[in-house]
Amino acid sequence: MFSFFTKNIRFKDLPYRTDVHSHILPGVDDGFRDIESSRTAVSMLGEMGLTRFVLTPHIFPELYPANTPDGIRERFASVLPQFDGSGAEFRIAGEHMVHEAFEDAFVSGADGALVMPGNQILIEMSYAFISRNLKSSIFYLNSIGLKPVLAHPERYVFYSRNLLEIRTLVEMECRMQLNLLSLGGHYGKTAKEKAELMLENGLYTYAGTDLHGISQIAMLENLEIPKRLVPAVEKLIEANDSLF
Ligand SMILES: [Fe+2]
Repeated sequence: MFSFFTKNIRFKDLPYRTDVHSHILPGVDDGFRDIESSRTAVSMLGEMGLTRFVLTPHIFPELYPANTPDGIRERFASVLPQFDGSGAEFRIAGEHMVHEAFEDAFVSGADGALVMPGNQILIEMSYAFISRNLKSSIFYLNSIGLKPVLAHPERYVFYSRNLLEIRTLVEMECRMQLNLLSLGGHYGKTAKEKAELMLENGLYTYAGTDLHGISQIAMLENLEIPKRLVPAVEKLIEANDSLF
């Protein structure tokens, strides 16, 4: 039971069990480098109650040419046995950069994607520059039966605090995924403010850690959430759970 007088709630006191976005799969992107640190992270997160993970390495041919859906699936299959005994469950997906040739990956249908459960595809953009083909990509993905989920919309500097552009994307059937650390100001004041506003307006569907390294676990452990936002975060927690 939360005290009536407490202004903030500790994130670790919420039942966050399922993560939908992380870079824990080692050695494939700018996230975890080796299996030992990945195992340590899973064990530390397990102590916080987190036992189900959708792993989402970056898929961006320009930066990570080896990260094709097949390449990532192979890497996942080879690494998975090393998590035996961790008590955690894993699904493999990807965080797809909407680059200029993004739609070309889908000429033969949905095979170009590494999807989250429910045929959902996690997409992202550069934080500084909008992808000119974002809207056409959202439309196209929906037309081939993939449901787009935009990662960390609060972090994109080109989206204003009035949330108009984000609302338009939601109306186009693009779901939104909150980066939990945005609520702690980890990505700056503006991202924090936008995250709070988006929560207040019910614009998110999922919440993720976007974990890139061990040091971020301490940030999650220390994360505090304003009590007024807790019901909105709890809704996202339930949506995350529905993926497993
Ligand atoms: Fe990410």
